[in-house]
Parts: sequence; C-alpha cells; structure tokens
Amino acid sequence: MIKRNPIEVFSEWADLDKDLGMEKNHNKSVEKMLDYALKDPIKAFSFIDAGCGNGWVVRKVAQLKSCLHAEGVDGSENMIQKAKKIDPSLSYSCADLMVWNPKTKVDIVHSMEVLYYLDDPKAVIQRIFSDWLKPKGRLIIGIDFYLENKVSHNWSESCGINNMKLFSQQEWFSFFTAAGFQNMASWHQGAQKNWAGTLIITGVK
Ligand SMILES: C[S@@+](CC[C@H](N)C(=O)[O-])C[C@H]1O[C@@H](n2cnc3c(N)ncnc32)[C@H](O)[C@@H]1O
Repeated sequence: MIKRNPIEVFSEWADLDKDLGMEKNHNKSVEKMLDYALKDPIKAFSFIDAGCGNGWVVRKVAQLKSCLHAEGVDGSENMIQKAKKIDPSLSYSCADLMVWNPKTKVDIVHSMEVLYYLDDPKAVIQRIFSDWLKPKGRLIIGIDFYLENKVSHNWSESCGINNMKLFSQQEWFSFFTAAGFQNMASWHQGAQKNWAGTLIITGVK
C-alpha cells in the first residue's frame, strides 16, 4: 500500500465519517484521562485539545461548569470544518502542532492518539511545557501506538500512513521528564489479552 501523510489520510477519514469511529473507540480512555485531569476539586480551568479531530472532546469539556474556555487545534482542514459546523460557538484552529502556539496559556492540555504522527514529538512536548501551559498546568496524553502494544505495530501499513513514530513507554515518559514535567503518572488504560491498553502519561508544570 502507498503510504500518505497523516493529515491527508485523516482529512479523507473526516469525509468518510470515520472520525465518528475514532470518537467511539477513544471515548473510554478519554473519559479516564479527563477524570484524572479534573480529579482535584477543580477551580475554573482553561483547556486545549491538541489534535482534536472533529472536536468531540472540546464539546464534552466545554459543557463542564468549571470550564472557562476550551479550544481545539488540528492540522486537518476537513476535521476543523466539521468541528465548526457541529458547534460554531467553540474555538478551533487549523494548524500544524509542530509550530502552533496558543494566544493564551491554559491550565490543561489534552491529546488523544496524536503525538506519534508529529515529526518531533519530544520537541512539541517541550513547547507545550514552555509555551502552552500556565504554571502548575497539566499535560495529559493517550497513545495506542507504542512499542509494548505489539498489536499496533502494523498500523502504519494497514492504515497507509507514513511518519508514525514507534516509541517505548519509557521513551514517552522521558520526553515529559526532559521537558521539566513533575508529579508524573502513567498507566495502561483498558489493557486486556493482546492489547496493552492506551498508554496514558501525565505531568504538571
Ligand atoms: C487518530 S486522530 C485522533 C483525533 C482525536 N484526538 C480523536 O481522538 O478523535 C489523529 C489526529 O491528529 C491530527 N494530526 C496529525 N498530525 C498533525 C499535525 N502535525 N498537526 C496537527 N494535527 C495533526 C490528524 O489530523 C487527526 O485529526
């Protein structure tokens, strides 16, 4: 199969409504990530979903009483158009995560099944730390494509997507610590036979 870049493939997925399948498949892990990120008696917070797809996590979070502002960013114009069509009142940017920075720093940055598509995930995690998050802000990511989740290893082939970075959980963890994150936590969400689970990693600035 000829491999194409992630943005091209996910734009096609948006046209084919495959974004709805991602929403369904990722929902359980995302629920746990949000529960964790919002677990303390949370004060009012601001939120960015990095690689937001059709914007479903932004819509979910924006409904919470303590959410002051939620926005999404994704490199696919089709995904962002879809997100804006579903709820034009919410904020979305179409941009490459390798270079985009928010206008205002936020309390929580969330990202589900995105960072391994980037040219340099370590550099983006570093920039989220320095340019996206307020002091004491939290980054939380979920990754299904990683070394210990052997069943994921053929996804680049089966989905025809190039540029997918296969890192170990230890490597992902080290990107956070190198950036300066503290109070780190990590777990495998939904692990079962032949599925190592979503690798969730989180830390505080
Ligand atoms: C597997 S989808 C996940 C979407 C969403 N987080 C969800 O759970 O439904 C990966 C998303 O990352 C976006 N993406 C990939 N590379 C990107 C980049 N360099 N900059 C911004 N977005 C990117 C794609 O357009 C796609 O929407």
